[in-house]
Parts: sequence; C-alpha cells; structure tokens
Amino acid sequence: MGKPLKNHLIKNSHADDVSNESDNAVFSKVMNVHLSRRSMLQSSGALGVAAALPLGLFGSQNAQAAVLESNMQRTRSLGFKPVPFSSEDKVIVPEGYTARAFYKWGDPVGIPGRMPAFKTDASNTTQEQALQAGMHHDGMAFFSLPLGSDNSNRGLLAMNHEYVDNGLLFKDGAANWDLNKARKGQNAMGVSVVEVQKSGNGWQVVRPSRYARRITANTPMGVTGPARGHDLMKTRADSRGERILGTMQNCANGYTPWGTYLTCEENWSDIFTNSSGNITPLEKRYGIGKEEDGYLWSRVDERFDSSKNPNEPNRFGWVVEIDPFDPKSTPRKHTSLGRFKHEGAKVTVTPDGRLAVYMGDDQRFEYIYKFVSKNKYQPNNRAANMRLLEEGTLYVARFNEDGSGDWLPLVHGQNGLTAANGFADQGEVLVKTRMAADRVGATKMDRPEWITADPFVAGSIYCTLTNNNQRGAEGKPGTDAANPRADNRFGHIIHWQEAGGDGTRTAFKWDILVLAGNSQSHKAEHRGNINGDDFGSPDGLAFDSRGVLWIQTDVSASTVNLKEYAGMGNNQMVATIPGSNEYRRFLTGPNGSEVTGIAFTPDNKTMFINIQHPGEPAAGDSDPAKPTAISSWPDGPAAGRPRAATVVITKNDGGVIGS
Ligand code: FEO
Ligand code: CA
Ligand code: CA
Ligand code: CA
Repeated sequence: MGKPLKNHLIKNSHADDVSNESDNAVFSKVMNVHLSRRSMLQSSGALGVAAALPLGLFGSQNAQAAVLESNMQRTRSLGFKPVPFSSEDKVIVPEGYTARAFYKWGDPVGIPGRMPAFKTDASNTTQEQALQAGMHHDGMAFFSLPLGSDNSNRGLLAMNHEYVDNGLLFKDGAANWDLNKARKGQNAMGVSVVEVQKSGNGWQVVRPSRYARRITANTPMGVTGPARGHDLMKTRADSRGERILGTMQNCANGYTPWGTYLTCEENWSDIFTNSSGNITPLEKRYGIGKEEDGYLWSRVDERFDSSKNPNEPNRFGWVVEIDPFDPKSTPRKHTSLGRFKHEGAKVTVTPDGRLAVYMGDDQRFEYIYKFVSKNKYQPNNRAANMRLLEEGTLYVARFNEDGSGDWLPLVHGQNGLTAANGFADQGEVLVKTRMAADRVGATKMDRPEWITADPFVAGSIYCTLTNNNQRGAEGKPGTDAANPRADNRFGHIIHWQEAGGDGTRTAFKWDILVLAGNSQSHKAEHRGNINGDDFGSPDGLAFDSRGVLWIQTDVSASTVNLKEYAGMGNNQMVATIPGSNEYRRFLTGPNGSEVTGIAFTPDNKTMFINIQHPGEPAAGDSDPAKPTAISSWPDGPAAGRPRAATVVITKNDGGVIGS
C-alpha cells in the first residue's frame, strides 16, 4: 500500500455521472415549460392569489384532517431582512439573529466515560473517531425529550456524516495508506445521535448522555422486507443475507411520527470497485466500475471489491431506520423502500392512516419514488409502527407532458417485472430497483435531491432537482415538460399534488415551483424565474411548521462563485412561501462549504442546520500540508483545520424563526 493517489477524487464523485442508459421513454424535445395556473399567476405578478392551495385541490380536501404535520398557523409573509451574497469565511444570518457552531467534526458525542477530545492536528486515533462526531454533516432531525413530548428545550439530534476528506482526516492525507486508515474513514461516516439542551448559555451538547451514539460503516444492521435473506444479499460473511455491517454515504434523511430517524445511503457505489474489470450490468446501472474513487478502502479491505465479494454492494443503497431513543437498538435496512442512491425519505401519513414515503435517486436522469405502507400508523402502538416500513408497495413517478402524473408500481409480475425479464421475485425487483423503474417507463429527472411535504395541504409535495448539465447533450435525453431546460446548470423545484390529497392514490398533478438561476446571466436559459434573491443548485428542502419553505444550495466546489455562478458567492439558504413567489436569502455559508441538513424545535424558535465540507477544494481532497488554505471555519486560522459542524440559529428576541 502506501501508494499516494494523485489528485484523487473522494467527494460524491459519481453523483454527477450518468448510469441510466435505458431507452425508456423521454418526452421528445418539448421546449415549452409546463406552466401551471399558479406559475402563470407568479410570472404575471399576481402575488399570493393561489398562495395556500397550489394546483387547486385536485379532488376533495375533506380527507385532510389528522394527516397534516403542523398545529401552528400558516404564515403569509417572511419577516426577516435578507442577507446579500457573501464570499466571507463565516456563517451570516439576518439582523436580529444569531448563528453559532457546535457539535463539530471530532467533538466527543458524549458516550459516558469515553469522550476523547478533538485534536486539531488530526492525530485522533481510529478508535477515538468512533466516539466523536463524524465528518461532513448532512441530513438531520430533532426529537424532543422525552419521547412523545413537544419539548423545545431538550432533545436528540440525529444526523448523517456523509463522506470524508482524507486530506483533513489525516496529518499525511492518503499517504502511507493501510487498513487502520480505512477504518478511521469508516468511523468518520455514518450517523450521530447527540443529546442537546438549551440553557442560560444557549444550546449545548449534553455530555455525557445515555442517548449518545455513533453508528459507523461497521455497525451491525438488520434487514427487513422482500430482499431480506435473498440470494443476492448473501455473502461469505453473512450466508443468510440478514445482517449487514454498517451504513455509509448517508446523505439526506427522514423521520417518522413514532420518533425514529431514517438515514439514506446515497453515493455508496463510490466506495466499491470491481477490480477484475468484469463489470456486471447491475454494477454498471449503479455506477460501480473498476476504478475506485479515492476512498481506497477496497485496497485494504476485500469487502469493498465486488470481484471478491460480488453481493456486498447489494447490501447498500437502502433506507435505514434508527431508534435514537434506544442506543442499544439495531438499525434496520428496509428493502421495501428500494435500492438506489437515496437522497432522503419524506414520511407522510395518508388520510386512511397509511404512510406515503417520498424519495429521490440523486444522479442525472434518475427517478422519483414513493413507498406506500400496507399497514396503518397507530399513534399509540410504537412497536407496531416500527414494522410499517417493512411491507408495502414501491412506485416510481412518471410526469406526463400535460401536467398529470402517474405512480407506476414496481411489483413483481406486473408491467414486465417478470422472471423472463430478469426479475425472479420481489426481492430481485428491489435489489435492481433502477432497472425495474427503467422497464416501467419512469421519467428521467434532473438529479432528484430532497423532498418535503406542505404541512398545510395534504399530498402537496416538493422536490429539488439540483442541476443536470447533460440534459439535452448529444446522446443524452432531451428536455421534457418536467425537466424543461437543456444544460440545466441551476436546477429547479418541482411540485406535485396527489389526487384527493391522498398519498395512496396513483394519480397526481404537477407543476414547477421555480426555475433557479442567475438573473444577471447573459444567457436566457440561466436566468431562471426567481422573484427575489437568486440561488442555484437547490438541494436541502424542508418546510417549517409555519409553512415557510427553506431551500439550501449545493453548488459544487468547482463552480461556486465561478463560471455561470460568478458573483453569487458561497452556498446559501433562502426561504419562500409557496404561492407568494418571493425568495429571500436567510443565510450564507463559509468558504468551500455546502449548506445542508435542517431541523426545528417544535416551537419553531430554534433552527439547526449543518455546514458540510468547509474548505473543500475544487477537486480532490484538501492538501494535508495546508488544511486551512480555503477555510478555517469555525475555529479560526489558529485552530488547525476546517470542521463540518451543526449551527444553531436563534432569534435574539427569542421569537419564531423567520417571523
Ligand atoms: Fe448527498 Fe444528493 O446529495
Ligand atoms: Ca444533498
Ligand atoms: Ca447535492
Ligand atoms: Ca456538496
């Protein structure tokens, strides 16, 4: 080993590739943007007319009671003064607000008696890293303590640590590579559960805490659903296909009404190699190749070389449920929710009490999915609810040109998902979810990222489509009504309304909330139609309980404030109220960072967000000799290296965020 890789890329390197070469229908060159009645109203400046009810009701509203998340009043206006674009190496929030970093990479998670302090020179050991905050914080949720309460002063934060930067994780970067170094990386990924509490000094991590937990790429996990025990899930180390070591590349997230956390495995294929070069069709469809992507794990651990362990990759790409209230609980991978590059999982309760879970597959030309549970949510039966994600129907979305849409079931025996076509049973349909979706004719989207649901309108769902500069390129799918821009550098946000407000139905209507852009661009197709503060590459997306929609951006480090994004500064967060057609910038992040992850206390007076990868260079890992070359956030230049961190945001007058 010890062979340093020149300029190796470790970050989400495959996220931008195209693995979908299926020839399922794409709408041919529809150049006109599908404009809903609401979009027309917006572009003609008739603000607020359709504010509360995008797309009209599309069916009856009478089933909406009890399925909506919020018990607050819907707000009609944004109350903060926007901040300008920024290239400053700090987090900037509006006047009257305070943002403070805590729970930084390397901070002890708070496991009693095992709380190693962060060492600023990256000399923490592999074992210490497993007891500390991981790197590159991403999706996150807040759970009030005790379970079932709506306490806004004490709770648990569960959060993802998506990937690692070997240039920051080690004094000597990826040089002198060995298994111990790979293990430190594995211990820096996964999930944290930390207890947090508001005191006189503001929010603090509670240490020690009986809830504190780190889940890593080696934590044992269970498996549920049709792919549990399937031949495609069996390995030498797990001949039954029922026990998987770890979760990794945990991107966005979800949470359930019974107080569990969902972590979603996104760019896991970057970890795997097939060193033989005999890439199978299944591997190709998921982006696994001969070359590894800078993680180097497969060089020292055969588990990650599929020529040696052909089924190990099949055990990643799932949604994992974690009970944050029980640090001894075993996380479970729910195969019913499909296998792809999961961004997040937005759980909604349908009018009849079942669950509809919305999920994006983040790669160019991939799909949007929905899982509908077989059984019903029971507010007073947590044990039964814990099984709800084990059984149900997975669908994939088709967005029709006329503004209608269909959820197409991915069910063995239907729509050509038969043994003759390579799907022997439902387990195989799920392991090969992308291939099943190709066959039924799903719509190829511009990189589906986060999905969220309007807390005041049942079945009203929004999804960020972050960008796709291959749309319309030679040999690639052209534009369609739902992905209307060729060379889509800025991305858009799509919205759909389930028929009758009912997430169990298979029909919906859709429109485009906004085309992101740079209004100063000399190219018309890059300007977008934002009214207010410009942004591009929307990624994180969540409603708060007042109906404000928060949008976080992830412009890649190679593009941020450059090229078509010149003048737009660092990544940022903007707010809107759907229907108002107003976008207002709330926060700008430090240099080289992405703004991601969002959680609120129930009173909406505290917002938690994550700053991921401050200091990320345009390509490859950070230079271990100059870790602060781009950013020294949050600790300052003397502190040694930049650190991903959670940021707690409060209003100085103690008021509601955004008011
Ligand atoms: Fe990890 Fe699609 O962002
Ligand atoms: Ca993301
Ligand atoms: Ca992204
Ligand atoms: Ca990023």
